Amino acid sequence: MPTPNYVKINAERVWQRHMDLAEIGKTAGGGVHRLALSDKDIEAHVKVAEWAQARGFVVELDAIGNMFVCRPGSDPSATPVASGSHTDSQPWGGRFDGPLGVLTALEALEALEDAGVTTRRPIEVPVWNNEEGARFMPGLSGSGSYTGVMDLEKMLDCTDDDGITMRSCVEKLHAALPNVKHRKLGQPYAGFVEAHIEQGTILEDAGEIIGIVTDIQGNRRFDVKVTGESAHSGTTPRARRKDAFVAATDIAVALRDVFWDEEDIARFTIGKFEALPGAKSVVPGEVNFFIDFRHPSKPVLKELGDQIEVVAERHVAPCSVAVTQASSADPMQFSEKVTGLIAASAARHGYPSRHMISCAGHDARHFVASCPTAMVFIPCWKGISHNELESAEPDHVAAGAQVICDVLVDMADWA
Ligand code: GLV
Ligand code: MN
Ligand code: MN
Repeated sequence: MPTPNYVKINAERVWQRHMDLAEIGKTAGGGVHRLALSDKDIEAHVKVAEWAQARGFVVELDAIGNMFVCRPGSDPSATPVASGSHTDSQPWGGRFDGPLGVLTALEALEALEDAGVTTRRPIEVPVWNNEEGARFMPGLSGSGSYTGVMDLEKMLDCTDDDGITMRSCVEKLHAALPNVKHRKLGQPYAGFVEAHIEQGTILEDAGEIIGIVTDIQGNRRFDVKVTGESAHSGTTPRARRKDAFVAATDIAVALRDVFWDEEDIARFTIGKFEALPGAKSVVPGEVNFFIDFRHPSKPVLKELGDQIEVVAERHVAPCSVAVTQASSADPMQFSEKVTGLIAASAARHGYPSRHMISCAGHDARHFVASCPTAMVFIPCWKGISHNELESAEPDHVAAGAQVICDVLVDMADWA
């Protein structure tokens, strides 16, 4: 067996790329506000495309707004391997959630270019559109539409809170990148690996640098609409009120008890809660809130998730309630073929590592059905993420980039 052509990544360059990208949509609190296909997210795509084109890589766009940086291999007929993530952020989010997966993979391509190494298979860096789902629901819709898990037309028709369609934003992205090729959805990969910050404290607490991600937990998301009756806040006695806020908070408190588990495994969140009409002297006639529930066990997702409607009905009187499941994803397992390569790379470089589960969702989940796939985690400060304070160490970013580069070299030589 010939020795793989491993190359050394450039630690300063990959860190500087993170700092430069974080200037786009930078917030006063040190994070980024770069919602999917907002002007700032489009600017971030253009910046990555400029870096890629300056190195001679081909840039392509597809119909759902995914962008691809492509480096050819020696066998043009071979199916490519890929590593990538996203540039969109949560509202007032962090600098590393998403960019780490894009920029470590871009660094791998640049390091191969610097060393003059040609792999057998082409290598691609996809920038998946709308990973976060903060602007357009559901998230992961770029990779979901690419792999056929989600319906392209339905996703293009979906709107943000201002009624702007994803379709019009994708058109804007294409207009901002007139000199790139168009590509078809669904072109297969022979392997996929994604780097990400852990968004938890396991690696940091253990003093480890590389997480070898074996699984992603599942989730179920629900829209809850409580309907009461708007009324005068000064004149309406309790007996005549149908206060949707009171009913909704009773439901929320009851659900907190139902989802409380001793081991602290279930993740139950109400992150969006809106009382209408939202006037200071009006008893709210309607409340809409959103539940994000995650768990590694499929039976528990079913059993506890199905409780939401039952509990809501029990606590809603004198108002009424409608519970609708907005999206769901099963727990899934990554490929041992790829986790083995990640573990071997970490060991070669002396990076302390562990096998672990991802509690967050990632685009990599959509490739598990079609090719060997896994993820690489690095620590982030205090596990803080989806927050402007999100932070990672330059040395850990470099370690993540080195592992991604090694795994891409290995996969690109697969028969
Ligand atoms: C992705 O950002 C998630 O919320 O899991
Ligand atoms: Mn992410
Ligand atoms: Mn995220």
